[in-house]
Amino acid sequence: MAESLYGEPGFYRSPAVPAQHFRTAAHTGSTWAGAIAVLATEVNEALRTPRDFTLVDVGAGGGELLAELAKIAPARWRLVGVDVAERPPGLPGRVEWQRGFPEGVAGLVLAVELLDVVPVNVIEFTDQGVCVVEVDEDGFERLGDPADLGDLEWAARWWPLRALGERAEVGSRRDELWRDLTAGLGAGLAVAVDYAADPDRVLGGTLSGYRDGRRRLPAPDASMDLTAHVLFDSLLQKGDVTLSQREALRRLGVKADPPDYRGDSDAYLAELTRASEAAELLNPLGLGGFTWLAHHVGIKTSLID
Ligand SMILES: C[S@@+](CC[C@H](N)C(=O)[O-])C[C@H]1O[C@@H](n2cnc3c(N)ncnc32)[C@H](O)[C@@H]1O
Repeated sequence: MAESLYGEPGFYRSPAVPAQHFRTAAHTGSTWAGAIAVLATEVNEALRTPRDFTLVDVGAGGGELLAELAKIAPARWRLVGVDVAERPPGLPGRVEWQRGFPEGVAGLVLAVELLDVVPVNVIEFTDQGVCVVEVDEDGFERLGDPADLGDLEWAARWWPLRALGERAEVGSRRDELWRDLTAGLGAGLAVAVDYAADPDRVLGGTLSGYRDGRRRLPAPDASMDLTAHVLFDSLLQKGDVTLSQREALRRLGVKADPPDYRGDSDAYLAELTRASEAAELLNPLGLGGFTWLAHHVGIKTSLID
């Protein structure tokens, strides 16, 4: 999975790949950036407007969110995209782009649909014990070696395997990445947004492939996204909160109410667009069903009850 996504060549090594293959909140339009700007404003005020206020989008993909924010964010805010891919073409000049996580950030760190593409080992409970599942480049699976101690310990704690055939997706690399990321936050808020794994409901695991907008049999051939839902339990640190995207966006003022027509067709059309973007972001069976994990450092925001 790591080679296929991030090797040379790897699926994510070219700039601006995500929008060619799947749709995320950042691709829905400006309503998403508007809500993130509201959250960033809250963080900025809670931090008492630091001179170096920074918004970092980790796993920024095609930079769509940052490009929208560049239009509306105060000029003094730093906007930083972090990705393994090169800077996407056409990104506004004020948006910085880098490979590594910044240190000592005062501000808002976002990781939207980042953790689901951090590689997992898939392990299965078999009559030979718990084994690693191997997949070849055509998508054919076979059972490999017994799972190592680290994977067994992670699964025993976070995703216990109870019956033959059950699978776990071991999220230890995700835990490590998220710990590193949040350690780089000096003060403010870090938010991870992703679809959550529920081990009680997905006994066969969630690993999937996506190419050209369609779901595929996952195969590590560098031609498709490989993604597995995120187990949030193992990511939680003291004081963290989780909530659905629907709830988070409602707290940030996103509403999908249809507008009234008041005689101005351009304004009406703009309001209709905003309402339909909001409806997509709030849809509990789609993006609204995503989970937000909020990690606050030294402040509180409306994401906390
Ligand atoms: C599923 S895409 C999401 C893109 C964007 N956040 C969005 O919501 O449209 C995941 C992105 O995370 C990037 N990525 C994965 N692992 C990363 C890492 N360790 N550091 C930086 N970027 C990473 C990938 O290159 C890819 O652009």
